[in-house]
Formats: sequence, C-alpha cells, structure tokens
Amino acid sequence: MVGVLERRTVKGAKNMIPVCEPLLDEKELAYVTDCLKTNWISSKGKYIEAFEEGFARYCDCKYGIATTSGTTALHLALASIGIGPGDEVIVPAFTMIATVFAIIYTGAKPVLVDAEPDTWNIDPAKIKERITDRTKVILPVHIYGHPCEMEAIMEIAGKYHLWVVEDAAEAHGAEYRGKKAGSLGHLSCFSFYANKIITTGEGGMVVTNNDGVAQKARLLKDLAFSTEKRFLHLSIGFNYRMTNIQAAIGLAQLEKINDLVAARRRNAHYYNRLLKDVPGITLPVERKEAKNVYWMYGILIEDEFGLSRNELMVSLKEKGIETRSFFYPMHQQPAFQEMGLFAGEKYPVTEALAQKGLYLPSGSGLKNEEIEEVCQTIKEIRGRILDIPK
Ligand SMILES: Cc1ncc(COP(=O)(O)O)c(C=O)c1O
Repeated sequence: MVGVLERRTVKGAKNMIPVCEPLLDEKELAYVTDCLKTNWISSKGKYIEAFEEGFARYCDCKYGIATTSGTTALHLALASIGIGPGDEVIVPAFTMIATVFAIIYTGAKPVLVDAEPDTWNIDPAKIKERITDRTKVILPVHIYGHPCEMEAIMEIAGKYHLWVVEDAAEAHGAEYRGKKAGSLGHLSCFSFYANKIITTGEGGMVVTNNDGVAQKARLLKDLAFSTEKRFLHLSIGFNYRMTNIQAAIGLAQLEKINDLVAARRRNAHYYNRLLKDVPGITLPVERKEAKNVYWMYGILIEDEFGLSRNELMVSLKEKGIETRSFFYPMHQQPAFQEMGLFAGEKYPVTEALAQKGLYLPSGSGLKNEEIEEVCQTIKEIRGRILDIPK
C-alpha cells in the first residue's frame, strides 16, 4: 500500500525525495472496500453526503457540492452565479491556469491583477483600477496555502456589488483573522487532486453559505435534471459528479485533516529554521492575521544566491531531490495569447516570481531527515559553486 506503509518512488527513480505524495492508510482502504462490496460505486451513496457535509462543516459553511475536480468546481461556481459572455472576472496574473480556464469556459473575460511581492497573492491595492461596468466577480487565489488579504477584497466587492469566489484549491485549513479559507468569500472552490492537503485522487468541491447558489450548483452539476419530470431539462447542465469511491477516500482524509495541516506547517517551520541564513533565498511569509498551511513550501532564488533557480533545480534533481518551478504568468500563456488576450500587458511581480520561484518537497509525510537532506544539499550546491568552505 502506498503512503504511510510504503513510499512510492517518483517515475521509477530510486530514493528520490518527491515533491509531494498522498498519505493513505487502512481507513481509505476500508471505506473504498465498503463501496466496492456494497456496489455503491457511482455518484450516489453515503460517502458523498458525509464528505460534502463534513468538509463544508470543516470550512464553517452550510453547503458543500462535490465535483470531479477543482477546475470543474470553479466552472460550476461561476455558472451558478450566472457568469457568462459580456461579464468580466478579476483574477490574479500569478495562479495555476485552471483558475483562468474556468472563466473562459463561461464565456466571460478574465482581467488580470499583479501579485503582492511577499504573499504572492492578488494585490488588493491594484484591484480597483481594473474594475469596469462589466466586472461581476473578484476571484482571489490563496497561493500555496497563504490566505489572501480578504478584508480589503470584501470591502471592494461590497462597494462595487461584486461576487467573491475564492479559489481555495491550495488552502484547505488556511485561516484569515481566525476564519477558515472557504468561508471568507460568497462561495469557494477546493481541489482534492492527489497532491492537495486532502485528496480524493481527482475531485473538487464548491462550498457556500448561500442557499440559492448551493441549490443552483447542485442542479447544474448533475445535468440540470428537473425534479418534477425526469429527462426534462430547464437549463444547460454539466456532469461534474464525484463518485462515492472518491468521496470515501475524501472522508477518510477529512478525518485526519488536522494532522495533515499540522504536518505541512511543521515542515515549513523546520525548512525556515534551516534555510533562514542562506544568502539569496527568500522564504515564504505568514502574515500576522493569516494561518498559512504551506500546501507547497515555496522559496525565491535571488541573484545573491549565485545560481539561477533553474540551475539549482537541475542540481537538486541530480542529487535525488524533486522540485517544481512556480507558475508561468497568465499573460504569457500561449493558450491565451492565441485568443488575443492580455496583449502588451505587464505584471512585474508575477514575472519575477515565475523566474525566481520554486517549491521544495512539501508532502505531509515528509520526514525531518529528508528536510535536513534537502537543506544541506542546497547549502552544498551553493558552497561548491561559490567555493565557500563548509
Ligand atoms: C489554484 C488552483 N486552482 C485550481 C486548480 C485545479 O484543480 P484540479 O487540478 O483539481 O482541477 C489547482 C490545481 O492544482 C490550483 O492549484
């Protein structure tokens, strides 16, 4: 079995420290086996309801609507509040592409805002200048697990009568001023992909306190089946149904979410301690009003380090340490350039993050010795290049 009992190796490599891997144990096995033994393998069954209710409660929200992925959760959320052609949605230039894809699926136009240099989240001070008569939504993304500056964002949204849809795909358990990510906007979207803090393999969820939106999301995710006459459909729906098997994994994961979040935070604090004196490395922050869950432990490699981010990644890989570079800026994505989007736009903070950022192994199952090995290797690589005596 994978996870706690036996570590998988990455792409067949021996002794590689992976960037992330899920932690599964007997609980997931027991719940999935229950689905198989009872024949409840599709999108009805007790685990769906239990997972939706349990995760919504964990986020301090009334409703949870499980979906097939974080991407479909984002699309469903936007569709449920009626976003479509002619509308504009404000979104960070520094994010994972699924956030912007979801806006494109609705026919609305994504409007980009640069990132804050320290949290790497959407910069609230730059939102107002992007608002037009067509703006309907602000879509903040809690990048790598640090919550956005939601007070400022909600204030702008209130003033201009905009929806706030949180992309909390990377931020299970994160908090802002003591409130959970997911409960900070009008509705929120999570991903349960295998590298997320809790996983269902593939999967996602929309959470909200809004009765009408929850009802609409539930309808649209299931092909908009009418409740009165089966096979009579009053609107265009989608099949974004999570299976009972996925929800069974999700429920088992939810039962240990506090431990999984605590492990992410413990790892980050240990990395911070071991890397804080290395010149040329900028560490991730945790603002005083925030609880960062460090979904991924990201760092910036500055000029002073002596090697570029890419050179460091190659050297770490040679030493058996897997890393990932930060996201490419949205305005530089060929998929959007081809559509004529974002032509000539510049987002200097996002561009710098994309060049300098990488994340180190960050899974909840990471051992202290592995963190020590990663940090020692970074120091050795730097020492070797700069000829610094150890
Ligand atoms: C910020 C963000 N939004 C959305 C997604 C999409 O989630 P999924 O891969 O489950 O579709 C991801 C996935 O990693 C993400 O990081």
